[in-house]
Amino acid sequence: MGLLICLGLVTPFHVAPAMSGLRSAFSATRSRSVLGGSQRAVTFDRLLVNVGGDFNPDTGRFRCRLAGAYYFSFTVGKFPKKLLSVMLVKNGQEVQAMAYDGHRKPGRKVQSQSVMLTLKPMDTVWLLLQQSPDYALYSNVGPYITFTGYLVYPDSSSSMSYLNNHLPQPGFLHPDCPPPTDPWYSLTREKAFEEPRSAFSVARTTSVLGESGGYREKEALTFDVEYVNIGGHFNKTSGHFTCHFPGSYFFAFTVGRHPHRAVSVKLMTGRGEVQAMVFDEDTSRHREMQSQSLLLSLRKGDTVWLYSQQDQRYAVYSNQGRYTTFSGFLVYPDWESSILDRTYN
Ligand SMILES: *[C@@H]1O[C@H](CO)[C@@H](O)[C@H](O)[C@H]1NC(C)=O
Repeated sequence: MGLLICLGLVTPFHVAPAMSGLRSAFSATRSRSVLGGSQRAVTFDRLLVNVGGDFNPDTGRFRCRLAGAYYFSFTVGKFPKKLLSVMLVKNGQEVQAMAYDGHRKPGRKVQSQSVMLTLKPMDTVWLLLQQSPDYALYSNVGPYITFTGYLVYPDSSSSMSYLNNHLPQPGFLHPDCPPPTDPWYSLTREKAFEEPRSAFSVARTTSVLGESGGYREKEALTFDVEYVNIGGHFNKTSGHFTCHFPGSYFFAFTVGRHPHRAVSVKLMTGRGEVQAMVFDEDTSRHREMQSQSLLLSLRKGDTVWLYSQQDQRYAVYSNQGRYTTFSGFLVYPDWESSILDRTYN
């Protein structure tokens, strides 16, 4: 067992952020509309949570203090008769994902988007607006506009560096592991052994058009951009996430609706059990998006994937702005199975 603990330090197990004090989280809302061209970044007038103080509502910028993998999500209101286009950007103007609605109808509605990003200290993340009077965001005291982000997994190198400094030289590796003298070292070593990590976030930069005719196997949506793939459990070529650590996982996806096509995308497990879906049968020429999210309890070997209806009436829209995204991460490992897995693998 002592040897297992020593080796456990180099496996993809991490220090629970809450236990180690490595915390960062914010959530902010905006109660006023923004007209295109009046400002570049979405700013916020109400801060609900700002653990670590990394978010500045006046500039709308999150500035990374702790390296790691963060989950970001935002929802924006569409202003009547205006276009909606908001991009989640990193640092200067590196577009990560977007929310879009090309209708100029009088009605109001909201669009949402979410991704996980790997950040290093001083990286900034914010919401970029289109600099044109054709675009606007709607909000009121409701509020329609929200922006949230939190650290899911601190960088293993930053949370483990202290441990690595204390590892014996390879030649001196002792099967019993010398007893640690520092209580924090002992705690993090235990947590490092216990907490598995798994996360992915991917996007498409091209559309997928459904085709009718003939029976075909249900094929998963595939992805060409990978923001995060901790543990390597997502295969973007096959579009499948495979569970390695049993537990409760959060999944979120957003898909673009293609001009003149309906959208129907299902979150599937295994061979095709539908867990949740998005649907929009509007076939106007305007683009917009649909989002969905949920938690699933997974066993080792379970697969999770997205299925877009394979029929010529349906499609999924995306471009370099990355309308179509898919993310998932382990929230709570299933304790007993993860310990059994570690011990008897
Ligand atoms: C990913 O999926 C592709 C297509 O199904 C497959 O050829 C490839 O071997 C898979 N990669 C891994 C690492 O499993």
